[in-house]
Amino acid sequence: MKQKNITWHQGKITKDDRHILNKHRSAVLWFTGLSGSGKSTISVELEKRLHVLGIHTYRLDGDNIRHGLNYDLGFSEEDRQENIRRIGEVSKLFADAGILTLTAFISPYRLEREKVRELLKEDYIEIYVQASLEDCEKRDPKGLYKKARKGEIKNFTGIDSPYEEPLKPEIIVNTSELSVVEAVNKIIIYLKSINII
Ligand code: ADX
Repeated sequence: MKQKNITWHQGKITKDDRHILNKHRSAVLWFTGLSGSGKSTISVELEKRLHVLGIHTYRLDGDNIRHGLNYDLGFSEEDRQENIRRIGEVSKLFADAGILTLTAFISPYRLEREKVRELLKEDYIEIYVQASLEDCEKRDPKGLYKKARKGEIKNFTGIDSPYEEPLKPEIIVNTSELSVVEAVNKIIIYLKSINII
């Protein structure tokens, strides 16, 4: 922390007050997985379903956030750590605002994800979007694996940069086996089981 002489100022409306107003709890659905595993696709469809159910949602997505808030970050280990740290803090604000927040970042490092879990506590719900590297590379929706294989992109996750699989995610959706609708249904069932929706 660089600053001194700063004091937290407590408001008069709490997160619980916002939950009562919204008629649902907030949380952060933290999608993690390889590029091309289906994080964005599933989170987009899930958000649509939640919206229809009357849930207040917001989606934070890797490629989008890197256009704005995190435009200054690349893909070195240090920059990815900072990327996830900032998103952790932003998603905490969204959860505090009473929003059911969906984040879709590769978030390849276990330690950084665990730090976000500590920050968000029971609000953190980790969803591992599991797909083999082979499948992700076959899909290659943005043509990035092809470029990485040719050496045109350095530090590409799964190729020459690591992805550390979650050890105890709350939910696993295997997109080599499940359709998008089936994956969304699995998450909805979980959210109902813990009374988020
Ligand atoms: S993270 O590792 O820091 O969590 P993030 O989810 O924000 O990554 O961004 C990943 C997206 O950036 C990928 O889906 C892909 O479109 C793009 N990208 C560009 N370069 C790389 C790279 N070297 N490794 C992984 N993804 C990359």
